[in-house]
Amino acid sequence: MANLWSGRFSSDPDPTAFEFGASFRFDKRLFEDDVTGSLAWVEGLTGAGVFSAADAKTVSSALQDILEQGWRDPGFVGGPDEDVHAFVERQLVARVGDLGKRLHTGRSRNEQVSLDLRLYLRRRIPVLQKQLALVVGALATKAEHADDAVMPAYTHLRRAQPVLVAHFFLAHVSALRRDHARFTWASQEADAMPLGSGAVAGTNYAIDTAKLASRLGFSRVVVNSIDASSDRDFVAGFLHASAMTLVHLSRLSEDLIIFCDEEHGFFQLSDASSTGSSMMPQKKNPDPLELTRGKTGRLIGHLAGWLATMKGLPSGYNKDLQEDKEAVFDAEDTVAGVLSALVGVVDGLEIFPKTTAAAASGLLLATDVADFLVSKGMPFRQAHEVVGAMVRQLLAQGRDFGALTLAEWQQHSKLFDDDVRRVVTPDASVRARKTPQSTHPQAVSVALAEVTEWLRRL
Ligand code: ARG
Repeated sequence: MANLWSGRFSSDPDPTAFEFGASFRFDKRLFEDDVTGSLAWVEGLTGAGVFSAADAKTVSSALQDILEQGWRDPGFVGGPDEDVHAFVERQLVARVGDLGKRLHTGRSRNEQVSLDLRLYLRRRIPVLQKQLALVVGALATKAEHADDAVMPAYTHLRRAQPVLVAHFFLAHVSALRRDHARFTWASQEADAMPLGSGAVAGTNYAIDTAKLASRLGFSRVVVNSIDASSDRDFVAGFLHASAMTLVHLSRLSEDLIIFCDEEHGFFQLSDASSTGSSMMPQKKNPDPLELTRGKTGRLIGHLAGWLATMKGLPSGYNKDLQEDKEAVFDAEDTVAGVLSALVGVVDGLEIFPKTTAAAASGLLLATDVADFLVSKGMPFRQAHEVVGAMVRQLLAQGRDFGALTLAEWQQHSKLFDDDVRRVVTPDASVRARKTPQSTHPQAVSVALAEVTEWLRRL
């Protein structure tokens, strides 16, 4: 069978080798973008005098017809072709004959595939960002409903200091908003129009590349044809944004797995977001959270794998670059799948404020006790010593600050007075915070309002 390059060879390709090199199986996902790029190329060629206005009209309407047929019937996009570019060209020639064979004038698949993937990502990234915003919205709603509930914040996974439950949810929101911005950067990185680069050296036809760029929605044109033929930095950027998003969702998942367990019992997953055990009737397993954690490894793998593929490439296009697409598509599908599962998980989460408050009181108020002594004039380092000794004693006695009489407080320091009892509650602890990023209820409500406003503006 003839293909896009068979003229050079005296025999047909070995079917196994051809199949091994073919990408149509997965790059059919670029069908729409490939036709979009070709429609623009028709205009470019017309401007360069290769097509007459009448030829351009014939070719464009055939391409339009191919596009519509693909939209109507996804099964249409298939066949023995090497890749999506060959498929579209075959369909075009079937409709307009020899005229269709002129479309590839001055153009290479090297720039075509770069264009297609750039168009694809610029189209699909905003869809992922919308899904990401839904998870942010679900977390913000949890924060709002948590009201003034307190819980322990952890460092080293040991109880550290009381915080608002809302502050905990907004912590995850902060990370996810950075991911949202990272996807925007990935899209901006893809924002350069490669047509006019030819196979590697540029093209012999006077293509108005600036005009093509703006027609295709790009704000700039690539600078160097050699670089353009193998530049997939935007792929690495997209895979990085995807991997980071999953790293953050994995950490959220890990937190929820821990806080929903029998030992903590801070939150509970809805039945709808949990799974049972085939053997142990009591089990309620957090499968969606575990899968999120698990799939993160795969996305980190796509990023690491892609960087490894790029690092040894000589200048110009190399077929290794074909590996970009399966990584991108799988990353996209994985991020989309995880995000849609997590909206439901977060929405269905139940918070148990009594349990979280109980865990947030006791010895984790030690820093507040030390700060009390500081407010009475003691140097912090010395206050730390005094309170450390108190903690040691209380632990040995199985008591906490709340159980101490004034006389007992004063055995440790004469600076303690009755006011100290008002300081050693989780509520007082969070209200003592004074910075905008802190867990002070007012700071948290300002932060929540800012998130709500951000979501509204999207
Ligand atoms: N399927 C190829 C890819 O994904 C398209 C470009 C082919 N170019 C070439 N010179 N063989 O990269």
